[in-house]
Amino acid sequence: MNKIQFIEDLKEKDIVVKSIFFVSKKELKKTRQNKDYLFLTLKDKTGELSAFLFENVDSFKDLFEEESYIFVEGITNEFNQNINLRISKIEKVDESNINIEDFLTQKGVDGETFFSDVLDFIDENVKDKHVKKLIGMVLSDPHVVAAIKEHPAALKMHHAIRGGLVEHVLSMLKLSKKIVEHYRDFPSDAGIKINEDLLYAGVIFHDIGKMWEISGKNENYSFSDEGKLLGHISIGFDLVSKYIDKIPEFPSTLKLCILHLILSHHGEREYGSPVTPKIPEALILHYVDNLDAKLYSIFNSRKSSRNAMWTSNQNALRKEIFIGCSNDNSEEKIENEESDGDEIPF
Ligand SMILES: [Fe+2]
Ligand SMILES: [Fe+2]
Repeated sequence: MNKIQFIEDLKEKDIVVKSIFFVSKKELKKTRQNKDYLFLTLKDKTGELSAFLFENVDSFKDLFEEESYIFVEGITNEFNQNINLRISKIEKVDESNINIEDFLTQKGVDGETFFSDVLDFIDENVKDKHVKKLIGMVLSDPHVVAAIKEHPAALKMHHAIRGGLVEHVLSMLKLSKKIVEHYRDFPSDAGIKINEDLLYAGVIFHDIGKMWEISGKNENYSFSDEGKLLGHISIGFDLVSKYIDKIPEFPSTLKLCILHLILSHHGEREYGSPVTPKIPEALILHYVDNLDAKLYSIFNSRKSSRNAMWTSNQNALRKEIFIGCSNDNSEEKIENEESDGDEIPF
């Protein structure tokens, strides 16, 4: 079903509206005269619009749920210099009949490709049969299968977009591999070697609970009840423990270490980890997670101030970051290099 009118086109009052919208919020309220009315927040890829239904509330109020699509007839209205919509008729629209691109406000990332890269990475790099089996089982969990390519890694600050979680995980896997390779070249005299398979399992599982902690679709994300009450660390711990217990003869120390990685990945108790990192792989996981999240949020806070020397303070560090030395001015550099014939003598 084609969507003809978009919210960005509804900037004036008295525009007749006949179009499909995504219902991001639905509330049944009472007028001062104690009459029911519906208050809706409607969304499409171009923005958000408040909408009201005062007539025939009984016929329409149970017709659709929050986070569904509706066809709406109505007229725009102006109140307090804001445009809203007075609805006269609502029809439920089947999700299979809409073009999803009309309703996604952000681009999102290609979760499909990132996920297949994650699977390839595991295939090539994880050797331990128990770890491999466990990762395979968790990534086949019905809730994970349904959500993994679409889920954000956070509500704001880092990877807070469709597909952000799997992008974050893939980035961390690649970064972890570089660290593993680095310390392979600098072996410890004490004979300690990083357990690569354990570290990669920690990367895969560390935020897996976010698929329950954050709910919503079409970038209409919020913390679920489970998320608010349990948090992603506990949810991930519980999920992975259950899957480990299904694998016969899973080594008990390996189980402890995998669960420790999940529990300690926030690094400090004050950041929600019940234990702090106590094995080398947990320390690496914590720093890689932290680095990936913070750099992502800094890069992202630059976009809103493209030509500025400082980012905004809307990032994980909650401060402005100087990017005057980090600007991508490679073309300028090449020109300068060509014009400057003097070689630096050291
Ligand atoms: Fe986390
Ligand atoms: Fe993370």
